[in-house]
Amino acid sequence: MNILDQDRLRLVKWPWILAILALLALGLYLTLANGWQAHAREWLNLAVRWLHIIYGIAWIGASFYFIFLENALERQGVRTELSGNIWTIHGGGIYYLEKYKTAPAQLPRYLHWFKWDAYLTWVTGFLLLIIVYYADPRAILLPPGSTLPGWAAIAVAVGSLVMAWLVYVGLSNTQLLYRPALFLLVGGVLVTGAAYLLGQVFSGRGTFMHIGAMLGTIMAANVFFVIIPSQKKLVRAAQQGQALDPQFVAWVQFRSRHNNYLTLPVLFTMIAHHFPMTYNHGAHWLILIALFVAGVAVRHFINVTEKEHHQTVVQGGAMPYLLVLAVALLLGAFYLTAPQKSTVLQETAPVAFAEVQSIIQNHCQMCHAARPTQPGFASAPGGVMLDTPERIVGYAQKIKQVSVDTQYMPLLVPGVPSMTTEQRAKLGAWVAQGAKGP
Ligand code: HEC
Repeated sequence: MNILDQDRLRLVKWPWILAILALLALGLYLTLANGWQAHAREWLNLAVRWLHIIYGIAWIGASFYFIFLENALERQGVRTELSGNIWTIHGGGIYYLEKYKTAPAQLPRYLHWFKWDAYLTWVTGFLLLIIVYYADPRAILLPPGSTLPGWAAIAVAVGSLVMAWLVYVGLSNTQLLYRPALFLLVGGVLVTGAAYLLGQVFSGRGTFMHIGAMLGTIMAANVFFVIIPSQKKLVRAAQQGQALDPQFVAWVQFRSRHNNYLTLPVLFTMIAHHFPMTYNHGAHWLILIALFVAGVAVRHFINVTEKEHHQTVVQGGAMPYLLVLAVALLLGAFYLTAPQKSTVLQETAPVAFAEVQSIIQNHCQMCHAARPTQPGFASAPGGVMLDTPERIVGYAQKIKQVSVDTQYMPLLVPGVPSMTTEQRAKLGAWVAQGAKGP
């Protein structure tokens, strides 16, 4: 095996790939023969999402681990060819690690690379975009009532990923790269602008996911186009006994550091679809950027703390104000997304259960039933069934949350009538009056 390609996740052998393809073909046959398209899409979503999380955790986990090593290396009294060493304990074993300034005089037979986790996180992420958003752009990607054709929405979506990388490369090729604070400021303004602009075309959820995908694309492309090629350069130079240009090394380190700071913001967008109160808000771009800044601040705090703790670099405390800033930003977003009182309070007269049930029947049940009638829905979304009085009463608080406070439901797809403010007020009042059953 080539020392330039010894990744933990080298591709599996051909017979196994053929076996997997045969199983996938069987799945396709079952799907087509039984008309299970919507059902198959849900399972595909599950499988790919699971993989995405697994690779993502492996990638970001390794990244956090190596950043920790770098920050925590003992740099005093080590051999001259080393930049430091470190002792760690994990899983019942004690590990000792040395970091070389460039490369050891004699390269090892086996050198472990870390790259496929990053690539496969991106690939599975893009597949998820196709399964959840592009396969039916009207369902989630576009806001209700959008007149943009589906193909144009997909073009904007994929174009935004490509643009993100091109703009990022453009910025990184200027002197800005060597002024991190300014880079962060310019990058932050660009991301805010992108969130605002995408928000004009996409639904809130589509916008958040694509901003996350844009940053994730920058991170994965940084690994593919910058970090791995430069590591290969490093190994080749070592094989030929040459030194690397220190300027080149500095350049790569700046690019790699960008990935470090992007991790927490991207992780937020990965979970954001669970939180409609953030992306369904009128000023969702502001909420997004507030949480991003909080994430970057926390990441910086961790970096500085790890360094200070282990290298006795005294800078006057580990910048706890960064944590204060992060909490203040979260609190600001919390306040901004607070439930609107007005719609709930309009209705104070007693609301009969029959009224509530008829609203739910007309606006929710086509999806939220054991057997949904809405095309494209094979089972009750989120496991939420609103098809009997008991279930409606049981979900009262949730119903208020999604259709009164955040108004994220009903999910508006063709065939689902939108709800009036009065209807929402009725639901809110019914819950406020104790959510009584029939
Ligand atoms: C067109 C189909 C559709 C309609 C109509 C619809 N929903 Fe949903 N609902 C969904 C989907 C899809 C999800 C899962 C969303 C997700 O995964 O983020 C969901 C999720 C939910 C959840 C779970 C949210 C959570 O945080 O776990 C609740 C509660 C809910 N809907 C209530 C309602 C109510 C109440 C109505 C009617 C006012 C309604 N839905 C109408 C498709 C629909």
